[in-house]
Amino acid sequence: MPYASITGWGEGMPPAVLSNEDLSTFLDTSDEWIITRTGMKERRVSHVSAIEMATVAASRALACAGLDPADLDLIIYGGCSNEEAVPNSASGVQVALGATRAASIDLNTACTSFLYGLTTATAMIRTGVVRNAVVIGVELISRYMDWSNRNVAVLFGDGAAAVVLQATDREEGVIGSVLGCDAESRASLRVRGVGCGYAGKGITFGDTLWDFDGQVIFKHAVKGMSDASGKVLANCGVTADQVDLVVPHQANLRIIEAVAKYAGVPMEKVIVTVHKYGNMSAATVPVSLVEALSLGRIRPGSLILMPAFGGGLTFAALLVRWGERVTPLGTSPRSLSPNTKTALELVSEIRATQDPHGRSRAGLMGVRFVEEGRGAGG
Ligand code: UT7
Repeated sequence: MPYASITGWGEGMPPAVLSNEDLSTFLDTSDEWIITRTGMKERRVSHVSAIEMATVAASRALACAGLDPADLDLIIYGGCSNEEAVPNSASGVQVALGATRAASIDLNTACTSFLYGLTTATAMIRTGVVRNAVVIGVELISRYMDWSNRNVAVLFGDGAAAVVLQATDREEGVIGSVLGCDAESRASLRVRGVGCGYAGKGITFGDTLWDFDGQVIFKHAVKGMSDASGKVLANCGVTADQVDLVVPHQANLRIIEAVAKYAGVPMEKVIVTVHKYGNMSAATVPVSLVEALSLGRIRPGSLILMPAFGGGLTFAALLVRWGERVTPLGTSPRSLSPNTKTALELVSEIRATQDPHGRSRAGLMGVRFVEEGRGAGG
């Protein structure tokens, strides 16, 4: 049975930087509060579509692996930012890449989507269904953020990164996965106005009220990521001191520190990007992985632990054995379309489409529904 080696990696990060000071120009918040409670200083705001970010990331990952898009069998688009429900977003990436043979799947488990996608693609390679896959973690949260709600608006950012997986006889790639979901608490993280549950209720995409119980999510995040990390290490017969690097989901520096402590791994072995990019949901782990490679923090044969947590409330912890190569075979000529606006200008444009309560002006008819209840179950 073949393994699924990670042979390519690349990012598609938007350039516009939104600082804590920028946020405090229109929200009752401060640089000090955000840094102390979350560790975040900056996040990115995209001027392009999620499909464009995903395509650039995938294209760079393919060039890094030296793989022609025409040889790709599978694209997994991991994330909860979809431009449309039908057609799916992975098909948009497929056509932009020219990966005409690739099966194309959207996979949404919120912040854990990339790790669920990595597990799925690995299983498909190991069982012989496909040989070459690209797995993308991508989010465009700024477009459906409630920019009037300081509880959530300071936390999230946009971004994308991708990896290429290829069949190999060497014992590399994902060697252990623990996946799960604390579904009783699913109502603690909900973005309203996106989905079929809202059809016929006067709600349109962009009615961006968020249900977000930060403290409930925080506790579940620490427990879910810590338990899953312990289980995946035990399943693989590995001890914490054998782990070379932890690449965790980046929702809050305090969560990362707590998970590292429970896992018994010192912070020097943990890659942290939350100060630069905030919480990019499904994109945090692959963006941090790409960053770790560019910083030389991954070596041939490195053992990498990847824990994550997100809406659902889903959790995951993967153990990855890196292969021999830690440098790209090639580079892609693709980059994002040029941007002429500041992040604050981009956010101001989105805010101009929302009423003072974060609801889209197009969907103001839906106010009655919002007041009536939660609607979509759970
Ligand atoms: O990736 C998906 C998973 N997401 C997460 O894992 C997020 C998990 N949760 C968290 O990271 C934290 O709970 C938060 C960062 C969201 C909040 O931190 P906290 O330490 O739990 O703060 P809190 O919710 O207890 O709020 C403390 C105070 C409150 O004021 P009072 O009631 O003490 O007067 C809030 O109203 O801070 C206030 N507050 C703010 N103040 C300034 C909340 N948000 C802000 C803000 N700026 N942006």
